[in-house]
Amino acid sequence: MFALGLLLLACVASLTHAQLTMKVGPTTASSAKRTTICNVLNYGGAIGSSDIGPAILSAYNNCVLKNSGSTLYVPAGKYNMQTWVTLNGGTKWAFQLDGFLTRTSTTSGHMIVIQNANDFEMYSSTSAGGIQGNGYQCRNAGPRLIRIITSTSWSLHDLVLVDSPEFHVVVQTGSRGEIYNLAIRGSNIGGSDGIDISGDNHWVHDVEVTNRDECVTIKSPATNMMVERIWCNQSGGSAFGSLGADTAISNIVYQNTYTNEGGNQAMMFKSNGGSGYVRNVLLQNFISRSTAYGLYINQYWASMTPVAGNGVQLSNITFKNWDGNVADGVARPPIALICADGAPCSSITLNNVNMWSLTGSAIAKCESAFGSGLGCIKSGSATSYAVVTSTMAKPSGYTTPSTMAGDLSAGYTSVSAIPTPTIPSSFYPGLPAISALAKDKQG
Ligand SMILES: *[C@@H]1O[C@H](CO)[C@@H](O)[C@H](O)[C@H]1NC(C)=O
Ligand SMILES: *[C@@H]1O[C@H](CO)[C@@H](O)[C@H](O)[C@H]1NC(C)=O
Repeated sequence: MFALGLLLLACVASLTHAQLTMKVGPTTASSAKRTTICNVLNYGGAIGSSDIGPAILSAYNNCVLKNSGSTLYVPAGKYNMQTWVTLNGGTKWAFQLDGFLTRTSTTSGHMIVIQNANDFEMYSSTSAGGIQGNGYQCRNAGPRLIRIITSTSWSLHDLVLVDSPEFHVVVQTGSRGEIYNLAIRGSNIGGSDGIDISGDNHWVHDVEVTNRDECVTIKSPATNMMVERIWCNQSGGSAFGSLGADTAISNIVYQNTYTNEGGNQAMMFKSNGGSGYVRNVLLQNFISRSTAYGLYINQYWASMTPVAGNGVQLSNITFKNWDGNVADGVARPPIALICADGAPCSSITLNNVNMWSLTGSAIAKCESAFGSGLGCIKSGSATSYAVVTSTMAKPSGYTTPSTMAGDLSAGYTSVSAIPTPTIPSSFYPGLPAISALAKDKQG
């Protein structure tokens, strides 16, 4: 019995991670990074300080880089920050941000850049540390909050990130990263992206994003990524893109994503011209409520300046087990597959996709889209065809999408301060977070 149980557990675990071909996250435990504690209070920092940036940098240069197995520690308390830091080249280290940092300079760039890190962990042990960007003071004219560049075997978790002047988290290539248990709360305005991620073998799970732009978005290049249990609590929605020249995205699973009302889309592929490919993608178990668009491929996306090239080639993309509605399915279709005429989509499969409209009537649109599972999609060889609009019937499998406690009914204003949230313990209806919050793991 016991052995069978273990075997079943092992199977479930391997299925969950099937998309990832390598182990993600730091290669040593947090405890192995506590041989030296590099406390910013010993490097010129003070609680209530007007600029904690120099103390973070000093603790990093004079302590972390000199002691393998160390933790850069910002104790609980409030700190202002006006000098941005790039923490480059650390190995086997942690950044324990229990304090809460408030941006006070409008210098552009990123408040915290982690670059070329290996075996790295950034987290708050209380699940309450993080950054207040006060973006309302310098909307789209200030820094982003965190950027992780070409780092390997790392994690970012249990942090609260509020109102970035621009994007909240950017992951630029690298490998074997794990992001989880984050609450990101931006304002109800464009340019407030939650997580933009590229690279290989990254796992993003249990993330809540409130904003008006990208929720968790895959950028090129990307391969072997798993994104799951994402709560877009009012948000632009999830996406691939924008996709430009030489796009290279493959082997992505994106699942258990919940998008609350007011979002722009449940999932969108966005491009306008460009080249390269997106292939071998599975998008399953999506729930969305009263978004503008639903399942949306648009390779003539007008908000993007056209890029040279015949179009990014989309192929072998499966949408499975979707339940959602859009606000007005005639004005904006619940399902639109607008593919590039110069690079028609192939093997697009819709399986048990139950998208409908709150108005009770809807259309679907297809252009140069080949595959199965939708009235207007064509089978056969990939020759371009002009847009086809068809009337949709209410899918027989459609049920009113689930809700989550704490759902948003209106976005946060972009002109005054946004309150700091706590990190929830569930990010998709009926499913707990995969890992307990750090604060609940203590003692
Ligand atoms: C299509 O993509 C899926 C992943 O979603 C992958 O398992 C499968 O092997 C791909 N099929 C082909 C023919 O490449
Ligand atoms: C989602 O938005 C609602 C409404 O503004 C807010 O009360 C709630 O805290 C948000 N959820 C999270 C997890 O931040």
